[in-house]
Amino acid sequence: PLEKGMFTAALHQYQGFWFTPNFLQGDLSCQKHFQALDNDILLVTSPKSGTTWLKALSFALINRNKYPNIHINHPLLTTNPHGLVPFLVNLYFDKDFVPDLQKIPPPRLFSTHLPYELLPKSVKESTCKVVYLCRDPKDTFVSLWHFGNKLVPQSSEVLSLEDAFKSFCKGVSLYGPFWEHVLGYWKKSLESSEKVMFLKYEEMKMKPDFYLKEIAKFLECPFSKEEESKGVVDDILNLCSFENLSNLEVNKTGKMSYGVENKVYFRLGQVGDWKNLLTIEMIEHINTITENKFVKHGLNF
Ligand code: A3P
Repeated sequence: PLEKGMFTAALHQYQGFWFTPNFLQGDLSCQKHFQALDNDILLVTSPKSGTTWLKALSFALINRNKYPNIHINHPLLTTNPHGLVPFLVNLYFDKDFVPDLQKIPPPRLFSTHLPYELLPKSVKESTCKVVYLCRDPKDTFVSLWHFGNKLVPQSSEVLSLEDAFKSFCKGVSLYGPFWEHVLGYWKKSLESSEKVMFLKYEEMKMKPDFYLKEIAKFLECPFSKEEESKGVVDDILNLCSFENLSNLEVNKTGKMSYGVENKVYFRLGQVGDWKNLLTIEMIEHINTITENKFVKHGLNF
């Protein structure tokens, strides 16, 4: 079935989740053809949960020996994080073309918004690592709504905040239902903590150095004592901070190969903007959904 979604065009439901028709085509091709390698790293999010930040951090982390002079010639200074860590859906966008990803030097870093249930089989069967980042649904919703407006500002397809909120709460949102997306990865992370690392945007904002070190351990490239004393952790965090990335020329004026302006990936980069937009009734409504869905699984926001 097709339903008018909160993003741009109508959303199409496939195996319980909502896609735009063109994303669905790319995601299905990826699901069919992508061959994960054991040392691949897959970054997964529900849209607007902090993908850009996670991409920047992970790229800087695993390439830290390649670019020791982080302030001078680091790729993140001149390329948007989405240009360095591709979305699989974009690589498989053309249904008549299967990309050759064999030549990418290991460890390969990719990202996707696919729910756990729909990941390519090889991702589940290999030892490749999955880092999942989620965010409070209220901020995710607000960020997604702004993103839709920026991408298609003149389009009548953009829903009002109220209609978009109803749609999001019903589960009809890009790669939604949001709660099922999160739960799929949460459950897998409980079952297999060496396969899926589960992170929250709010916690990362609070203790970024702790979480960057945790990600490094999870990806089996922990920081040495020497690196820590030389300030490598802080250097990476500063390079990837919202303030730094959003003020780089490339992210102010550049465009992605698929036409989207780099600046749309940076808005506020803060926790709690929902307080400025949602009414008390909306907050109570969405909090109740979150509690009903998550608390029984030991997950809280
Ligand atoms: P806001 O709209 O609340 O500002 P995604 O990267 O998944 O598309 O999510 C985008 C959200 O992450 C936006 O949130 C954006 O501002 C924020 N963001 C982008 N870069 C960030 C960074 N380096 N650190 C923290 N948040 C960042």
